[in-house]
Amino acid sequence: MNQQIQNRKTKKKKAKKQTFRDTLKEMLPEKTHEYLPKGYEQMGTIAILQLVEETEEYALQIGNKILSLNKQIKSVYQKTGSMRGEIRTAIITYICGIENSETVYLEHGIRLKLDPARVFFSSRLSGERSKLLTNFRPNVRVLVMFSGVGPYSITAIKQNLNISRMVSIELNEIAHNYALENLLLNTNLLKKCQSYLQLCNEMQTGGIIRSAFRKLVLKNLAQLRFQFICGDVRKECLKISKPFLPLDTEEKKQIENENNNTKNKKTNLHNHWDCTEILNSNDYPKILKAFIDRKENEEIFVDFSKIQKQQFRLWLILFCKKLNFFCLIDNSYFKFHTLWEKGIFLQWIETGDLSSITKFDRIIMPTPKNQKSFVNLIAYTADTGCIVNMYDFVDEDDFPLKTENRIIEELKQLDKKVEILGSYKAGQIGPKSYRTRCDFKILN
Ligand SMILES: C[S@@+](CC[C@H](N)C(=O)[O-])C[C@H]1O[C@@H](n2cnc3c(N)ncnc32)[C@H](O)[C@@H]1O
Repeated sequence: MNQQIQNRKTKKKKAKKQTFRDTLKEMLPEKTHEYLPKGYEQMGTIAILQLVEETEEYALQIGNKILSLNKQIKSVYQKTGSMRGEIRTAIITYICGIENSETVYLEHGIRLKLDPARVFFSSRLSGERSKLLTNFRPNVRVLVMFSGVGPYSITAIKQNLNISRMVSIELNEIAHNYALENLLLNTNLLKKCQSYLQLCNEMQTGGIIRSAFRKLVLKNLAQLRFQFICGDVRKECLKISKPFLPLDTEEKKQIENENNNTKNKKTNLHNHWDCTEILNSNDYPKILKAFIDRKENEEIFVDFSKIQKQQFRLWLILFCKKLNFFCLIDNSYFKFHTLWEKGIFLQWIETGDLSSITKFDRIIMPTPKNQKSFVNLIAYTADTGCIVNMYDFVDEDDFPLKTENRIIEELKQLDKKVEILGSYKAGQIGPKSYRTRCDFKILN
């Protein structure tokens, strides 16, 4: 009996899978064994190795071994410096394979194009992202600060199709441009979202069934609803928290004068093409043709007291890139020219409230290391009841009170009350040193 158990144990030992380190041990001198890496970080077709001094001279051999063991990997790089400056890019050096550090990385069903030599990205945080971004309530307004190439933003879209609006802010222009590209790489995620399905129904009812229109609606809807801003969160959070105002009285007077001077040409208001009547006609193909035939960047006028605004939504989404909008809403004139303004316009059409767009129900802050606190920005952007997920870097002895007390104190100075919901370790970054996350609720 004892012998049988012993045999099973030996078999189990024999069956133990050979690790990456075991493989390297077989080909490298014994003096290196205790210093060999246990693995490497894989991002799409790229492997990133981290070697210590004792093993550096074997970088090429190790790199070639990775290429032969893992057929997905086409390029091997080595981390040769720690994260740089505000934008937190790693210093990586080419070792072997194809010399191209741009790749497309797959994470929980989303695709992220990125270049780890030019932007911050860590595949090790993928579990953290998917765990964090579940259980949003419908129609939530989300703000992602420090959005990088968009991993949090796009995971949030995947997990919560009915986000009402999301704003993501990133300082590094290269990362921001990847984020814009990544949104378009992942628009298929939206095919099951309620508003897209509704818009498809409307197109079908109106006889607009060409798949090109569906694609256009999907792409434009994504860009209006999920907006990426390139800039410093310190400035951008203040800008986006300001109310969206109508044109001032001077400009309004000028428009009204021009309108009076052109009484006979009703459709020629302030050089805008007045499409209020045509939108009211209820004849979709006719309206569509009228819009398609307009020149690019033309400004059209709509008086919202005379049309059904829900009906206008499809036209805004279809032509948001081609036309600019000038609207009379509740006796005030508004201009919607930039994609940002048109995103606000869409939210107004859907929720009927222009003031609510400046506040958020959920704020995600994957804060960069070694920077001053950004906690005060929450006071400008959070609505009552907003849930914030804020990352920090602390030593074992300071966890969790250092971060929690800082949040409570800094927000108290801005007359905000908070309830701490929990603090978690989200990965070790050094001996007794952690990346941590604090979840809290804004109570007023
Ligand atoms: C820890 S990384 C997180 C990036 C991304 N969320 C991710 O997980 O891949 C921090 C990001 O914040 C950006 N950043 C640093 N300071 C910033 C600032 N003041 N405003 C906006 N973004 C900033 C950096 O460029 C970097 O991409």
